Amino acid sequence: MINPMDTTDRYAPPRARTFTLNTPVLTTERLVLRMPVPDDAEELATIANSREIAEMTARMPHPYTYDDAVRYISAVQNGEVEGYVYAITIAETGHLIGMCAVENSPRFGGLQVGYWLGLAWWGKGYASEAASAVVDLAFRVTGTDVIHAGSRTVNPRSRQVLIKQGFEFTGLDEIDTVAAGRVAIERFRLTRETWLARKAGER
Ligand SMILES: CC(C)(COP(=O)(O)OP(=O)(O)OC[C@H]1O[C@@H](n2cnc3c(N)ncnc32)[C@H](O)[C@@H]1OP(=O)(O)O)[C@@H](O)C(=O)NCCC(=O)NCCS
Repeated sequence: MINPMDTTDRYAPPRARTFTLNTPVLTTERLVLRMPVPDDAEELATIANSREIAEMTARMPHPYTYDDAVRYISAVQNGEVEGYVYAITIAETGHLIGMCAVENSPRFGGLQVGYWLGLAWWGKGYASEAASAVVDLAFRVTGTDVIHAGSRTVNPRSRQVLIKQGFEFTGLDEIDTVAAGRVAIERFRLTRETWLARKAGER
């Protein structure tokens, strides 16, 4: 079992490359989540190129170019991103609509979930559907007891996505972002205990 919380013992996470290559395809009611591939670069650059998206994330630049997309996909494929990074696609059409990831985060000292969608895909419940799938994966295949998240204080949509998964607010913080400089964020966390209780309630 992977234990991303502990890098000192024999349960430490495998090297990043192994971790990433183990990213399994996830299916939900309307979505297929899979690793991004080089052929996604053009579509990724198109849907990611919005200031509204970049300013709500920590690392996305604006404008977001084709070269940015190629570099990011290559980094994921080369195992430079330690975690599960998913292209969110529409099951029926295969269209790429956004990205979702659970990554090791030095800031949070554990796993952090993040997501974004192309503007045309907002407001249809897709982010909640994708976030739920990757949160389930993270609790099922790692030994972590908690998953963290951060959302800008001016981002009610993202806050709502997290609260719907059972995440609870833990306090305010500040981060440096590529597109918006230093910004205030709300920190959230979901414990394994809460996740398990909610799963039991779904049955
Ligand atoms: C955050 C983001 C992924 C949400 O995508 P989405 O597909 O619209 O999300 P969902 O439809 O699953 O859920 C959005 C929720 O916010 C609610 N919402 C929308 N606008 C809102 C507002 N102004 N105030 C409060 N809630 C709002 C919706 O009603 C919905 O909740 P509900 O299902 O209970 O009705 C999308 O807006 C995005 O990509 N933003 C830019 C990047 C970003 O913010 N990433 C998150 C950083 S971790």
